[in-house]
Parts: sequence; structure tokens; C-alpha cells
Amino acid sequence: SRMVCSLAPGKVILLGEHFVVKGMPAIGAAVTLYARVCVSRGQGRVESRQLGLLLDLSSNTVNDKGLYRVVEELAGRFGLKRDFHATIDSEIPISSGMGSSAAVAVSTTHALLSFAGVEPDKKVVWEVSFEAEKVYHVRPSGVDNTLSTYGGVMVYERGVFNRVKTRWPDDVLIVIADSGVKRSTGSVVADVLNRYDKYSKVMSRIYDAASELVRDAIKSIETGDFARLGELMNINHGLLSSIGVSSRVLESIVWAMRDAGALGAKISGAGRGGIVIGLVETSKVPSVIEKIKSLGLAPLVVQIDDEGVRRA
Ligand code: MEV
Repeated sequence: SRMVCSLAPGKVILLGEHFVVKGMPAIGAAVTLYARVCVSRGQGRVESRQLGLLLDLSSNTVNDKGLYRVVEELAGRFGLKRDFHATIDSEIPISSGMGSSAAVAVSTTHALLSFAGVEPDKKVVWEVSFEAEKVYHVRPSGVDNTLSTYGGVMVYERGVFNRVKTRWPDDVLIVIADSGVKRSTGSVVADVLNRYDKYSKVMSRIYDAASELVRDAIKSIETGDFARLGELMNINHGLLSSIGVSSRVLESIVWAMRDAGALGAKISGAGRGGIVIGLVETSKVPSVIEKIKSLGLAPLVVQIDDEGVRRA
């Protein structure tokens, strides 16, 4: 019998996290780590042993409300029948701001539509996956499911997404190190907003600097000036440190990457924990990897995914 598979990328925030909450631009990139979903004929089941996820429509077992929302939406819009068995695997670290839940929703939507014989239009995949994101997150920006659906590098500013025109070179990579420190994005964001209110005059200038920095970085990416992009990432890290979201552990990872020759290194996402990213030329990747391993961490080396969700 027929089986269809789809994959969708995770993402990193390259620049502008936190500042984006107050309307400044941020840059995100889809990266080559994927959630992959395969669908064959079955009895209305979506599962992932790896992610501990199960929807069994025949017995009303649902431990993931977001994916249930995807199935409901597809049934309502396209008359999706309960004749599928979807299995999900993912390479994207969970709970680290890399858009794992969005990539799962995007790839599942794409695969279920394909299985049902409906051409999986990207706009539809985006809309349906955003419904899932609304279940997972209180006020989702849409950054995660947008990057996972469309791929590439995008600027997000006040609800609007624009693709950054780039031919990202094969010899500039992104190294990701997960600190393994868990934190709640919501409470980190709340702390930052409190600091903003307490030091608003100083903070408004830091936020303006972040905005300038992102605009400069867009040009650097468009013109292929990755040495400059690296420096701008370092400056961005300094600004994130100044708003209170760094930590001793994150600093040690950032400096390990810089010492090993990264063009730039910074916190990515909410901070306090989560991931650090480095912009690294191919020739320096082995030394950066070695340094991170010496800290007891397992680095991931990725490139930009330009395509977004697709058949696998
Ligand atoms: C978290 O990945 C990104 C933040 O800017 C929060 C947000 O934009 O919702 C810290």
C-alpha cells in the first residue's frame, strides 16, 4: 500500500530575540535539522515513540492537542478521513527554541494532505500549522511555522515576514550547542520586560541599537559579508547580556566558540539556558566542535534550509 513522507526544518533565531517583543526586527533561519512524517493506510493514528506522542482517534486517545487541532482542521477543510497512520521522527532538539513543535505540525499537515490526495499548498500548510502553534503557545509570533513552511532566512517585524535575499555560501556553517539548562521562555521574557520598565531610558537606547544592528546584519547577509555578520552577532550577544539573559554557562559556551575561531557566537532564543549558536567557517568547524565537546556538550552543525517543507 501507498506511503507518503514529508519533512520540515527547525529554526534558529540569528539576531534580535527579546528586542522583537517590543517591535524591533529579528532574523530567523530555517536549518537542516528535520521533523519527518510518514503516512500510510491505517485507523486514524498519529504517533511518535521518540517524542512520546499519540493520537489514536479510534479509542479517543489524544496526548497532543496541537496535532489533534491539525487533524480537526484538515477534516473540516478537506474532509480528511480517519484512514491514516502517521509516524513522526525528529532530529530537532525539543524545548530549546528550535521550533520542534512547529516542524512537527508543518510536516504532519503536509504529509496528511499528500496522503489524502490534496496538493499541499504552502499557504494552507502555514495556516493549519499556525492553528497548532496557537494551541502550544499563548501568543505565537508565527516565526517557527513560517520558517518551517517556507525555509530560508527571514526578517520578522511587527507581524510581517520578509525573506532575506541570500545565496548563503556552503562554507559558512552554524554550530549549535544546547546548554541543557531548562528555563521558561515566558518568565525570562517577563524579567526582561520588568528590567525595561525599571531602566526605560537606558533600555530604549539598547533596543534602538538592537534594531540598527539587525538592519546592518540584513545587508551583511545580502552582500555575503559573513565576517561582519559574525561581529554583529557578538555585539547582539553583548546587548542580550545587558538585558539580563546571559549566564556563566552560556558565556563559557560563547567564548569556547570564539576561542576556537568562530566568526561570531551568541545566545539564540530566550537565554538563561537553551542554545548558543556560532557562525563558523568550514575550516574552523573541527576546532569549534572539539572545544564544545570539551565542555561536555554535543554540538550540532547545520546549514540554512532554503526550501522549507517538502516531500521526503
Ligand atoms: C524566544 O525564542 C524568542 C523571544 O524573543 C521571545 C519571543 O519572541 O516570543 C525571547
